Amino acid sequence: MTPDQVAVVQSTLRAARCDLDLLAARFFERLSTRNPALRSLFPDDTAEQEGKVAAVLDEIGYAVHDHERLAAECVALGRRHESYGARAEHYPVFGEVLAESLAATVGDAWTVRTADAWDAAFELVTELMQSGQRSAEPLAGPVPSGRGQGLRTGRSGHR
Ligand code: HEM
Repeated sequence: MTPDQVAVVQSTLRAARCDLDLLAARFFERLSTRNPALRSLFPDDTAEQEGKVAAVLDEIGYAVHDHERLAAECVALGRRHESYGARAEHYPVFGEVLAESLAATVGDAWTVRTADAWDAAFELVTELMQSGQRSAEPLAGPVPSGRGQGLRTGRSGHR
């Protein structure tokens, strides 16, 4: 990410800061319409998840200028996502829904420059999370043809 993109991402989050909870609530609302199968991986009541997603966005806002800190956070997050059933093809859907939710939350402050900076940030977070997923312990037992090809509905390993 360029220094300008880092600054833009941080200023979007500062603008959205008081509304991070609203942003996370919007995220799950939009995900339900956009991709019900992905939404169904989360519990019906997303209040707890919303709090965690808001906290992680806040952390990304602090860490985006500090690659080591961002990498530590995202690699660990990605490692946990291996057991949540997250697959490479799901990340772009999350990125789009997140961008739409951010845009709805910050209103006029969302511009082409902001959207580009967030694309770059999401790409970086995705890369780091996926490297964490690759380093995660394989799930116990045989996983015949489903691995990497679809959604698993079982949830395990949630901290
Ligand atoms: C930038 C990408 C993403 C971010 C920042 C993110 C962030 C989070 C956070 C903070 C949590 C709370 C639990 C924890 O901290 O371990 C969570 C849970 C979860 N995420 Fe993600 N996530 C991302 C992408 C995805 C993708 C692509 C999937 C696709 C399936 C996914 C599926 C889940 C599920 C199913 C849970 C809930 C697990 C449970 O409580 O049962 N996430 N995510």
